[in-house]
Amino acid sequence: MKNKTLAVIKNMLSKKSTDAFIAESKSTELKKTLNIFDLLILGVSAVVGTGIFTIIGSAIVGSADGAGAGTAVVISMLIAATASLFSALAYSEIAAMIPVAGSAYTFTYATMGEFMAWMVGWVLMLEYAIGNITVATAWTGYLTQLLKGFKHILPDFVVNCPLWLRNDFRSMYAMCDKYGWDVHDKMPFVQLPFGVEMPIAINIPAIFIVLVLTILLIRGVKESTRVAGLMVFVNLSIIISFVLVGAKYVAPENWTPFAPNGLEGILAGTFIIFFAYIGFDAISTAAEETENPQRDLPVAILGTLTLCTILYVSVALVLTGVIPLDSINTQAPLADAMRAIGKNWYAGAISVGALCALTSVLLVYQLGTTRIFYAIARDNFLPKNIMKINKKYQTPHIITWISGLIVIIGSLFMDLNISAELCNYGTFASFVIICIEVLILRKTEPNRHRPFKVPFCPLFPILGIVMCSCFMIYKGMSGGTSSLYFLLWIAMGLAIYIAYGYKNKRLND
Ligand code: ALA
Repeated sequence: MKNKTLAVIKNMLSKKSTDAFIAESKSTELKKTLNIFDLLILGVSAVVGTGIFTIIGSAIVGSADGAGAGTAVVISMLIAATASLFSALAYSEIAAMIPVAGSAYTFTYATMGEFMAWMVGWVLMLEYAIGNITVATAWTGYLTQLLKGFKHILPDFVVNCPLWLRNDFRSMYAMCDKYGWDVHDKMPFVQLPFGVEMPIAINIPAIFIVLVLTILLIRGVKESTRVAGLMVFVNLSIIISFVLVGAKYVAPENWTPFAPNGLEGILAGTFIIFFAYIGFDAISTAAEETENPQRDLPVAILGTLTLCTILYVSVALVLTGVIPLDSINTQAPLADAMRAIGKNWYAGAISVGALCALTSVLLVYQLGTTRIFYAIARDNFLPKNIMKINKKYQTPHIITWISGLIVIIGSLFMDLNISAELCNYGTFASFVIICIEVLILRKTEPNRHRPFKVPFCPLFPILGIVMCSCFMIYKGMSGGTSSLYFLLWIAMGLAIYIAYGYKNKRLND
């Protein structure tokens, strides 16, 4: 029994060696062509999206699960940027040292063994797949705003499509609660077995866009991912013009009280607005292709963080300045604010820009989900047949469908805030692990060549661990549905490892 237990633990801690990873990467040596400017573009295109176009509304106003930060969301943004900085530096050190695909999952396999690697892979799914539920839901919000602009041309059924056909179940209930509506009036009911009656709400536009992108990805849309990179210019133009146009209408009295819900609101705002900073791993994973990583990576990371923070803070100040806090809409806040000040044509332009930006984010993250699935299935944690390649299009169609279905099914039950918070839990957890890995590798492999080193080590990785852990603990203690879902997700990961991954790895070994 004792021997068996020891064998189990040994198996769980078994690692794939750093040398094996590096040997793999040598076979596909990449050209060192990226400079600071390229890295900045990469960073901004991966980071700017739903967070600033939609989540900002919930961070300011709050959600069914908690208070919002009010105008003090600008403080939340600075805190979220600092937590991102420590983790992004840690990512850069490891990515430059072990430059292979698979991100945090791969690094964990090299440092903490197979069990932790599986759990990190499982948690990364939260970041990518569940994060996409947030983006798809935000997409519906801006589509609705855009359709409103065509109310003179389009039929009323399209412009004012029934709420239950463009919202998830939770949002519909929250709306009924908020406005005192009768659920029976607002949602149709279906008869389930055993005489149970169930109201229904389906976010059709979110499901539609995910289906379209899933089919596109199966067809192998190489060009679309390139277009996603170009979208950064659309993003930035829309955001900068929102600030410039809106600045003239700012009424400073709307900024008081600055922090209506005090520290609690600021911390809750930080947890949710952190979503707007996700995507930094994109810069660090380009470490191997950077001309001068030791100089360029920290500058690019700091530059992207500073640029995004300036943009985000400016948007927050304009948004909270042009309309009173209780009038801020959480589905499409920027377009709605412009409509509120009578700039209907401009609200339409913002909606078009936001829809383009959100579509590209969806595409990139949907692709990210398939890559994580692929990496963990290749290592035998999931059945290998899901990796099957479509003969006609040469793409992993089963994995692509699974990734799409996770988002579609999730969008029936989760609203924008729950999915964003869950995604943040996943990201915080992977950031903590990455910072720990920097400390482990500095001890276990002190002499390995590091093209980039985290400055002020161990202070910076420790600060990263402390900040990200504190946010998870704080959120966990303040309760809320996302904390419960996160624990359920971890329990599911454990169950899959015990029932399939662990046994299968052993047989394989
Ligand atoms: N940071 C990315 C966004 O806001 C995930 O959409």
